[in-house]
Amino acid sequence: MIIVIDGPAGSGKSSTAKAIANRLGIKFLDSGALYRAITYLWLESDKPGKAEFFENLSNVRLQADYRDQTFYVQADGKNLTDKIRTKYVADHVSEIASYKTARRFVNEFMRNLVKEDTYIADGRDLGTAVFPDADLKFYMDASLKERAKRRFLEMKASDESITLEDVMENLRSRDEKDQNRENDPLKKADDAIVIDTTGKSFEEQVQEMVSIIKENVNLN
Ligand code: C5P
Repeated sequence: MIIVIDGPAGSGKSSTAKAIANRLGIKFLDSGALYRAITYLWLESDKPGKAEFFENLSNVRLQADYRDQTFYVQADGKNLTDKIRTKYVADHVSEIASYKTARRFVNEFMRNLVKEDTYIADGRDLGTAVFPDADLKFYMDASLKERAKRRFLEMKASDESITLEDVMENLRSRDEKDQNRENDPLKKADDAIVIDTTGKSFEEQVQEMVSIIKENVNLN
Protein backbone atom coordinates (compact mmCIF):
# COMPACT_ATOMS: atom_id res chain seq x y z
CA MET A 1 0.00 0.00 0.00
CA ILE A 2 1.35 3.43 -0.88
CA ILE A 3 0.29 7.00 0.00
CA VAL A 4 2.18 9.74 -1.87
CA ILE A 5 2.88 13.43 -1.26
CA ASP A 6 4.21 15.53 -4.14
CA GLY A 7 5.02 19.23 -4.17
CA PRO A 8 7.76 21.83 -4.65
CA ALA A 9 11.02 21.93 -2.67
CA GLY A 10 10.67 22.97 0.96
CA SER A 11 6.86 22.64 1.10
CA GLY A 12 7.23 20.45 4.20
CA LYS A 13 6.56 17.12 2.49
CA SER A 14 9.31 15.11 4.20
CA SER A 15 8.75 16.29 7.76
CA THR A 16 4.98 15.92 7.36
CA ALA A 17 5.29 12.46 5.80
CA LYS A 18 7.59 11.38 8.64
CA ALA A 19 5.17 12.61 11.30
CA ILE A 20 2.30 10.83 9.55
CA ALA A 21 4.34 7.62 9.24
CA ASN A 22 5.08 7.70 12.97
CA ARG A 23 1.49 8.36 13.91
CA LEU A 24 0.05 5.65 11.69
CA GLY A 25 2.84 3.11 12.27
CA ILE A 26 3.78 2.91 8.58
CA LYS A 27 7.11 3.46 6.79
CA PHE A 28 8.47 6.63 5.23
CA LEU A 29 10.13 6.76 1.81
CA ASP A 30 12.08 9.91 0.88
CA SER A 31 12.47 9.83 -2.91
CA GLY A 32 14.45 13.11 -2.91
CA ALA A 33 17.06 11.42 -0.68
CA LEU A 34 17.54 8.77 -3.38
CA TYR A 35 18.10 11.47 -6.04
CA ARG A 36 20.49 13.20 -3.65
CA ALA A 37 22.34 9.90 -3.08
CA ILE A 38 22.94 9.26 -6.77
CA THR A 39 23.93 12.93 -7.19
CA TYR A 40 26.50 12.47 -4.43
CA LEU A 41 27.81 9.31 -6.13
CA TRP A 42 28.14 11.21 -9.41
CA LEU A 43 29.94 14.16 -7.78
CA GLU A 44 32.36 11.78 -6.01
CA SER A 45 33.05 9.76 -9.18
CA ASP A 46 35.61 10.61 -11.84
CA LYS A 47 32.60 11.97 -13.76
CA PRO A 48 32.13 9.82 -16.86
CA GLY A 49 29.13 10.51 -19.18
CA LYS A 50 26.08 11.05 -16.95
CA ALA A 51 23.58 8.95 -18.91
CA GLU A 52 25.94 5.92 -18.85
CA PHE A 53 26.81 6.48 -15.21
CA PHE A 54 23.17 6.20 -14.17
CA GLU A 55 22.56 3.33 -16.58
CA ASN A 56 25.25 1.37 -14.67
CA LEU A 57 24.06 2.25 -11.17
CA SER A 58 22.58 -1.22 -10.77
CA ASN A 59 26.16 -2.27 -9.92
CA VAL A 60 25.94 -0.15 -6.76
CA ARG A 61 24.30 -1.75 -3.72
CA LEU A 62 21.93 1.04 -2.70
CA GLN A 63 20.05 0.53 0.57
CA ALA A 64 17.34 2.66 2.15
CA ASP A 65 15.82 2.17 5.55
CA TYR A 66 13.52 4.26 7.78
CA ARG A 67 14.17 3.97 11.52
CA ASP A 68 14.47 6.28 14.56
CA GLN A 69 12.77 9.08 12.57
CA THR A 70 15.56 9.05 9.99
CA PHE A 71 15.62 7.92 6.38
CA TYR A 72 19.01 6.21 6.06
CA VAL A 73 20.71 5.80 2.69
CA GLN A 74 23.77 3.62 2.07
CA ALA A 75 25.73 2.83 -1.07
CA ASP A 76 28.00 -0.22 -1.04
CA GLY A 77 27.91 -0.15 2.76
CA LYS A 78 28.90 3.55 3.04
CA ASN A 79 26.45 5.68 5.03
CA LEU A 80 25.39 8.70 2.90
CA THR A 81 22.59 9.95 5.18
CA ASP A 82 24.31 13.22 6.19
CA LYS A 83 26.51 13.63 3.12
CA ILE A 84 23.48 14.11 0.84
CA ARG A 85 22.19 17.17 2.78
CA THR A 86 24.96 19.60 1.81
CA LYS A 87 24.50 22.70 -0.36
CA TYR A 88 26.91 21.13 -2.88
CA VAL A 89 24.52 18.21 -3.43
CA ALA A 90 21.43 20.49 -3.33
CA ASP A 91 22.93 22.67 -6.06
CA HIS A 92 23.37 19.72 -8.45
CA VAL A 93 20.50 17.38 -7.67
CA SER A 94 17.82 18.85 -9.97
CA GLU A 95 20.10 18.67 -12.98
CA ILE A 96 20.95 15.03 -12.20
CA ALA A 97 17.26 14.25 -11.59
CA SER A 98 16.42 15.42 -15.12
CA TYR A 99 18.22 12.39 -16.66
CA LYS A 100 15.95 9.63 -17.86
CA THR A 101 18.43 6.91 -16.81
CA ALA A 102 18.69 8.42 -13.31
CA ARG A 103 14.89 8.50 -12.98
CA ARG A 104 14.53 4.95 -14.25
CA PHE A 105 17.00 3.71 -11.63
CA VAL A 106 15.33 5.54 -8.70
CA ASN A 107 11.81 4.58 -9.81
CA GLU A 108 12.65 0.91 -10.06
CA PHE A 109 14.33 1.01 -6.65
CA MET A 110 11.22 2.59 -5.08
CA ARG A 111 8.73 0.25 -6.74
CA ASN A 112 10.66 -2.75 -5.40
CA LEU A 113 10.95 -1.25 -1.92
CA VAL A 114 7.22 -0.65 -1.44
CA LYS A 115 6.19 -4.17 -2.47
CA GLU A 116 6.77 -5.49 1.04
CA ASP A 117 5.14 -2.89 3.30
CA THR A 118 2.84 0.12 3.73
CA TYR A 119 4.62 3.39 2.91
CA ILE A 120 4.03 7.12 2.78
CA ALA A 121 6.43 8.58 0.22
CA ASP A 122 7.28 12.13 -0.77
CA GLY A 123 8.58 13.48 -4.08
CA ARG A 124 7.71 15.38 -7.24
CA ASP A 125 6.26 12.85 -9.67
CA LEU A 126 5.08 10.04 -7.42
CA GLY A 127 1.34 10.51 -8.05
CA THR A 128 1.78 11.13 -11.78
CA ALA A 129 4.62 8.87 -12.97
CA VAL A 130 5.92 6.47 -10.32
CA PHE A 131 2.76 5.34 -8.51
CA PRO A 132 -0.19 6.47 -10.69
CA ASP A 133 -2.38 3.92 -8.84
CA ALA A 134 -1.37 5.08 -5.34
CA ASP A 135 -4.01 4.48 -2.65
CA LEU A 136 -4.07 8.21 -1.82
CA LYS A 137 -2.34 11.25 -3.33
CA PHE A 138 -1.57 14.62 -1.75
CA TYR A 139 -0.03 17.72 -3.30
CA MET A 140 1.53 20.06 -0.71
CA ASP A 141 2.34 23.67 -1.50
CA ALA A 142 3.31 26.93 0.24
CA SER A 143 4.59 30.32 -0.90
CA LEU A 144 8.28 30.49 -1.95
CA LYS A 145 9.02 32.92 0.88
CA GLU A 146 7.57 30.65 3.55
CA ARG A 147 9.28 27.57 2.12
CA ALA A 148 12.65 29.38 2.03
CA LYS A 149 12.27 30.59 5.63
CA ARG A 150 11.58 27.07 6.90
CA ARG A 151 14.43 25.46 4.93
CA PHE A 152 16.83 28.26 6.01
CA LEU A 153 16.16 27.55 9.69
CA GLU A 154 16.83 23.83 9.12
CA MET A 155 20.07 24.35 7.16
CA LYS A 156 21.49 27.09 9.39
CA ALA A 157 21.98 24.55 12.18
CA SER A 158 24.62 22.69 10.15
CA ASP A 159 25.91 25.50 7.89
CA GLU A 160 26.32 28.91 9.51
CA SER A 161 27.45 30.58 6.29
CA ILE A 162 24.12 30.00 4.54
CA THR A 163 21.82 32.98 3.93
CA LEU A 164 18.07 33.21 3.40
CA GLU A 165 18.74 34.57 -0.11
CA ASP A 166 20.91 31.51 -0.94
CA VAL A 167 18.11 29.19 0.13
CA MET A 168 15.41 31.15 -1.73
CA GLU A 169 17.50 31.10 -4.91
CA ASN A 170 18.19 27.36 -4.59
CA LEU A 171 14.47 26.58 -4.12
CA ARG A 172 13.43 28.89 -6.97
CA SER A 173 15.91 27.38 -9.38
CA ARG A 174 15.08 23.79 -8.36
CA ASP A 175 11.33 24.42 -8.77
CA GLU A 176 11.93 25.84 -12.21
CA LYS A 177 14.05 22.86 -13.29
CA ASP A 178 11.63 20.36 -11.71
CA GLN A 179 8.55 21.91 -13.34
CA ASN A 180 10.03 22.35 -16.79
CA ARG A 181 12.06 19.19 -17.30
CA GLU A 182 11.04 16.83 -20.06
CA ASN A 183 11.13 13.64 -17.96
CA ASP A 184 8.39 13.37 -15.32
CA PRO A 185 8.13 17.05 -14.31
CA LEU A 186 6.73 18.22 -10.98
CA LYS A 187 2.97 18.34 -11.53
CA LYS A 188 -0.13 17.87 -9.42
CA ALA A 189 -1.90 14.60 -10.26
CA ASP A 190 -5.52 15.18 -11.31
CA ASP A 191 -6.75 13.09 -8.39
CA ALA A 192 -4.39 14.56 -5.74
CA ILE A 193 -5.77 16.39 -2.68
CA VAL A 194 -4.14 19.85 -2.40
CA ILE A 195 -2.81 20.91 1.03
CA ASP A 196 -1.61 24.54 1.10
CA THR A 197 0.47 24.94 4.25
CA THR A 198 1.05 28.72 4.07
CA GLY A 199 0.09 30.05 7.50
CA LYS A 200 -0.75 26.59 8.89
CA SER A 201 1.06 25.14 11.87
CA PHE A 202 2.89 21.86 11.42
CA GLU A 203 0.49 20.10 13.81
CA GLU A 204 -2.54 21.44 11.91
CA GLN A 205 -1.32 20.12 8.57
CA VAL A 206 -0.37 16.71 10.00
CA GLN A 207 -3.77 16.37 11.73
CA GLU A 208 -5.63 17.36 8.57
CA MET A 209 -3.78 14.79 6.47
CA VAL A 210 -4.04 12.00 9.06
CA SER A 211 -7.82 12.53 9.14
CA ILE A 212 -8.05 12.38 5.35
CA ILE A 213 -5.98 9.17 5.29
CA LYS A 214 -8.13 7.54 7.97
CA GLU A 215 -11.30 8.45 6.05
CA ASN A 216 -10.02 7.16 2.72
CA VAL A 217 -7.59 4.30 3.29
CA ASN A 218 -7.98 1.02 5.10
CA LEU A 219 -4.61 0.62 6.82
CA ASN A 220 -5.27 -2.85 8.25
O1 C5P B 1 12.84 16.31 -1.82
P1 C5P B 1 14.21 16.91 -2.02
O2 C5P B 1 14.21 18.40 -2.01
O3 C5P B 1 15.25 16.31 -1.14
O4 C5P B 1 14.59 16.46 -3.51
C1 C5P B 1 15.82 16.81 -4.09
C2 C5P B 1 15.64 16.95 -5.60
O5 C5P B 1 15.41 15.66 -6.18
C3 C5P B 1 14.47 17.81 -6.08
O6 C5P B 1 14.79 19.17 -6.17
C4 C5P B 1 14.19 17.23 -7.46
O7 C5P B 1 15.04 17.81 -8.41
C5 C5P B 1 14.57 15.77 -7.32
N1 C5P B 1 13.40 14.89 -7.14
C6 C5P B 1 12.73 14.47 -8.26
N2 C5P B 1 11.69 13.59 -8.16
C7 C5P B 1 11.31 13.13 -6.97
C8 C5P B 1 11.96 13.58 -5.79
C9 C5P B 1 13.00 14.48 -5.91
O8 C5P B 1 13.07 14.88 -9.38
N3 C5P B 1 10.31 12.23 -6.89
